[in-house]
Amino acid sequence: MRFLVVGGGAREHAIARALHQSEAEVVVASANANPGLDRIARASARLDPTDPARVVALARAERVDVAVIGPEAPLAAGVADALRAAEVPTVGPDRAAAAIESSKLFCRELLSRRGVPGQPKWAAPASLEEVDRAVSDFPGPLVVKPSGLTAGKGVWVQGSDFADRKDGAIYAKSLLMQGGRVLLEEKLEGEEFSLMAFVTDSGVYPMPAVQDFKRALEGDRGANTGGMGSYSQRDHLLPFLPAGDRDRALEVLARTVDALRAEGWRYRGILYGGFMLTASGPVLLEFNARFGDPEGVNALTLYEEGDFASLLEGVATGHVDPNLVQFRQRATVVKYLVPPGYGDHPRSGGVLHLDAGAIEAEGVHVVYGSVDIAGPGAVRLSASRGIALVGEASAIHEAGARVESSLKHVRGDYYVRHDIGTQEDLVRRWEHVRRLRAPTAGASPLPLSVAPPGAPPASHGPPEQLLS
Ligand code: AMP
Ligand code: GLY
Repeated sequence: MRFLVVGGGAREHAIARALHQSEAEVVVASANANPGLDRIARASARLDPTDPARVVALARAERVDVAVIGPEAPLAAGVADALRAAEVPTVGPDRAAAAIESSKLFCRELLSRRGVPGQPKWAAPASLEEVDRAVSDFPGPLVVKPSGLTAGKGVWVQGSDFADRKDGAIYAKSLLMQGGRVLLEEKLEGEEFSLMAFVTDSGVYPMPAVQDFKRALEGDRGANTGGMGSYSQRDHLLPFLPAGDRDRALEVLARTVDALRAEGWRYRGILYGGFMLTASGPVLLEFNARFGDPEGVNALTLYEEGDFASLLEGVATGHVDPNLVQFRQRATVVKYLVPPGYGDHPRSGGVLHLDAGAIEAEGVHVVYGSVDIAGPGAVRLSASRGIALVGEASAIHEAGARVESSLKHVRGDYYVRHDIGTQEDLVRRWEHVRRLRAPTAGASPLPLSVAPPGAPPASHGPPEQLLS
């Protein structure tokens, strides 16, 4: 089978690698020359992946059987519609259904209209006058979001990105004055997690839950980014996420697909829910219509031994064999090497020397993002995320330690969040949810189904997956 992979980042490298391992041929359509993708691909075309006509022309010329769209921008530009019109089965929703990601307003309105659970309090003031009224209607802190695509960077959270609601109102008004729509949401307290699923006519098939690290700097400080790294746990839950809450999040995904269908939109692709696990359960922050980056790298690393090509063909044509949805029971940690200053003022152009063979020999995968080749064993960083290193082990902190150990094979000027996947960070997040769920300060907490990393086994849960 021959696949067209649209996009040129680490997520697309991970998709192509999983396809290649199931013996599919890969053709790439991307703006940049990704060294990892180019090594795998039978053909690789430099083109604007948001240009439907050029992508369709490539699919025809290369006689591809199935197309997979990696990033959000081609979906929002109607590339999936154009491929389907050219009779190329495609993983990725049509533009109308991809509005679940490209328009946060469409998403919130649809979910409210159809009574999908797990929504925060929200408002969408349409004029400058309405902003002040809407802001004063929120009892607590706020989040201000542009409705359209912002690559994870336009969302401002009170307390981190602005001080008080007056500043929030100013930001909301500035977005309206630039001609876009704006959403206000209650600021949710909790731990974030990502739940992705393969979605097609025959059902919704979940992948392992992942936690992404959105903030640029260690300790969750600095600007919101597309994601600095991520981890997944051996049992496909997370240290702070019990099965019941994962199942509630999955219900939000399934009910959303029903809501889309009830309004006439078919969805064949990946649906990714970004959730906050709050004291009262998972609440939806946003939907994406694609694999997460880096979350897709975690999930796809765990798929390597299965028949990924048949699975994606099933998504594109409407029927998935559930036996193909198989992920190894291992923990993964992804850390992105990014240019210094990434998040605010990235310094592009720096050269990294890396011994990919030595890194892979330590059991750590090298997944190439937004880099160019700069000579043998050397890549040049752009302003975006450069290289994702993926460690795998039975426990999360071991997978994280593997990535850390492999950094000795990388030289050059880069930034990486060393705190991702450490025991200290895992315990901190587990404690955060435990504290939130304690009925009152000082009272004993509600039992979670897992114990903190390193804690002795509790009577109410199976902690072993967190212990080495
Ligand atoms: P989004 O693009 O909507 O996922 O927002 C980007 C990031 O902003 C999320 O990953 C959260 O870290 C944060 N965020 C978004 N909405 C909220 C909310 N209602 N409460 C707290 N944080 C939020
Ligand atoms: N890591 C967040 C995203 O893919 O949108």
